[in-house]
Amino acid sequence: MAENWTPNSWRHKPIQQVPDYPDAGALKATEAQLATFPPLVFAGEARRLKKSLANVAEGNGFLLQGGDCAESFLEHGADTIRDFFRAFLQMAVVLTFGAQQPVVKVGRIAGQFAKPRSSNIEKQGDIELPSYRGDIINGIEFNEEARIPNPHRQLQAYRQSAATLNLLRAFAMGGYANLDNVHQWMLGFVKDSPQGERYRKLADRISETMDFMKAIGITSENNHSLRETDFFTSHEALLLGYEEALTRVDSTSGDWYATSGHMIWIGDRTRQPDHAHVEFCRGIKNPIGLKCGPSMTADGLLELIDILNPTNEAGRLTLICRFGHDKVAEHLPRLIRAVEREGRKVVWSCDPMHGNTITLNNYKTRPFDRVLSEVESFFQIHRAEGTHPGGIHVEMTGKDVTECTGGARAVTAGDLQDRYHTHCDPRLNADQALELAFLLAERMKTGREEKRLAVNG
Ligand code: TRP
Ligand code: MN
Repeated sequence: MAENWTPNSWRHKPIQQVPDYPDAGALKATEAQLATFPPLVFAGEARRLKKSLANVAEGNGFLLQGGDCAESFLEHGADTIRDFFRAFLQMAVVLTFGAQQPVVKVGRIAGQFAKPRSSNIEKQGDIELPSYRGDIINGIEFNEEARIPNPHRQLQAYRQSAATLNLLRAFAMGGYANLDNVHQWMLGFVKDSPQGERYRKLADRISETMDFMKAIGITSENNHSLRETDFFTSHEALLLGYEEALTRVDSTSGDWYATSGHMIWIGDRTRQPDHAHVEFCRGIKNPIGLKCGPSMTADGLLELIDILNPTNEAGRLTLICRFGHDKVAEHLPRLIRAVEREGRKVVWSCDPMHGNTITLNNYKTRPFDRVLSEVESFFQIHRAEGTHPGGIHVEMTGKDVTECTGGARAVTAGDLQDRYHTHCDPRLNADQALELAFLLAERMKTGREEKRLAVNG
């Protein structure tokens, strides 16, 4: 029997990954203050996203979810946000045009500040300090003061999220995402790469289509879907005090919504069914993501689905699978079969980043060929099981960083030191992200053609 849920019922459950705030009074005061602040997103928007994800769960459309591993207070410039958005739009348009399917666009942005860590302490030389847990909790600098969890950082994270979201809304709705601008999203350093060339060709075809439509009277001025795009935000719901403070009742439905972002997800380390993170997420009505790593059992997954989506509502739950290129074939089929057998409606998404992290020259990196290989397996497995490969979840940036090795314009192990800027895990640069989008578009197109052939006999 499920007990009554309240925004703070998670406080009575065991919890993983909590920061050790030295000043409980200051933490409480900050949370009380946050609770008086305006919501960052609205319930109606979260419902709209859920509806789009429901279509994906039914086999129509594709979820594109991506952004930084961790956002940072230092890198909060308009250029960073714009460059990310450009790279993301390029990926979206490649997927939409290439695969002829609607793409649901969800950023890992405007709230992605808290990080689960494998160890509570970090050791450098003889010095041991508390681990960095994301800018919303403590500082990345390796000194004692920076590493003390400071509740005031939550206020800064809230304000940064609001400002980021404001700019993203302006980009998505105010003209920047207009399909008339499809050529302008190209980033300088991608221009003369093989992906740039490929993108230009696709953009030419879109422009031609737009000219044709204009000739017959359909223009971006009289048709808003050519001019605007729905862009949603998401982050890991790890810091539950912050999430609780931003959880509000929607006046139209009377339901509780997390208003820190449109979609939130539960990490692979905090998904114990009787613990705090699952308790918090079960009571809010937003679309929820659940990370599934190699330790997820079929029964464990079904138990979590029962808790998180008891009414089997399509669009409520996205399973974000992160097994690793060499483990996906072992783990994904058994989870798909269990979910199919029980008739549970989910979006299957592939996170090809987190299971493919290695250390090279003292840098955490991800070989791009392993990322692609996990994606290929994801598509093959869904084809074999007759299920819909519904989405991708990537860590990426619009900057020309050297954090993941490989790609058409190959980043080598020796290059890693050049522009390794991430605050946490290595991200795809814009060139690698675009290359991945082209591969995805091809696989999606093949899948659709096969389906069509099967239907037409
Ligand atoms: N509104 C449509 C969509 O979001 C078409 C569109 C407008 C679009 N601008 C876009 C698609 C930018 C991808 C990228 O799908
Ligand atoms: Mn990460």
